[in-house]
Amino acid sequence: MTASPETVRKVLMCPPIHYDLKYEINPWMHLENSPDTSLAAKQWHTLHQTLADEIGAEVFLLEQAADCPDMVFTANAGLIRGNTALLASFRHPQRQTEEPHFRAWFEARGYQVQTAPEGCRFEGEGDALFVGDTLAAGYLKRSDICSHNWMANTLGVETLSLELVDDRWYHLDTCLCPLTADTVAYYPGAFDEYARTVIASHFKTLEVCEEEALRFACNAVVLGSQIALPSGCPRFCEELQKLGFTPHSVEMSEFLKAGGAAKCLTLLVP
Ligand code: ARG
Repeated sequence: MTASPETVRKVLMCPPIHYDLKYEINPWMHLENSPDTSLAAKQWHTLHQTLADEIGAEVFLLEQAADCPDMVFTANAGLIRGNTALLASFRHPQRQTEEPHFRAWFEARGYQVQTAPEGCRFEGEGDALFVGDTLAAGYLKRSDICSHNWMANTLGVETLSLELVDDRWYHLDTCLCPLTADTVAYYPGAFDEYARTVIASHFKTLEVCEEEALRFACNAVVLGSQIALPSGCPRFCEELQKLGFTPHSVEMSEFLKAGGAAKCLTLLVP
């Protein structure tokens, strides 16, 4: 496997003007451990600078709504393929207020917006990541498995359902990261046995150790051979370098307090 130069070079981000911790909806979030918001802003700007200036990505910006503290995690906005945008239907009411803002952005960009069937939860790229033309899809913690059929039918793509079994890795993008059209990095402990078999039989794999998986190593933004990822993952960086990638480590401490990091802050805009 080698890093591929061609690929997505556009992303959507949301500057953290109202980022905060106002509720607890995953095991990382504790009301008594709230983020330092000015440090969070610095970390976000460093990620933005890394993506835009160092990696050369085009970054679209969306304004954060005051009543949506987690809206900075644009990966959850939806999933874009061609001119279709599959809009998120969040599991928790606390995040459902973000949906109209993401819808408005998709519509303004001219996408055909589709929503999941009634009662079917879907959290965008948080749980749905393309590996080449195959869609790797997580379920159980946030997105429902019914969203997988809906994505497969709406987009006409092969979808692999992967069950997440550990609350700490509650979104697929916290424990699996597509590196090329046929290779993923992943943390096996986040998946049930069947999902591990599916991953290993469909893709070439790079395993991430638990220590670095807990630092959200897999929550990396892969743009061709350039990868922006949370700092504190030296082993993963070394493996990536051996494969021809250039890792860019960014401190994400204030976003980890909400259970997010580099990839969560970024929606791929193909
Ligand atoms: N606090 C947010 C939540 O629990 C974090 C979302 C992280 N996003 C992601 N794509 N993993 O929903």
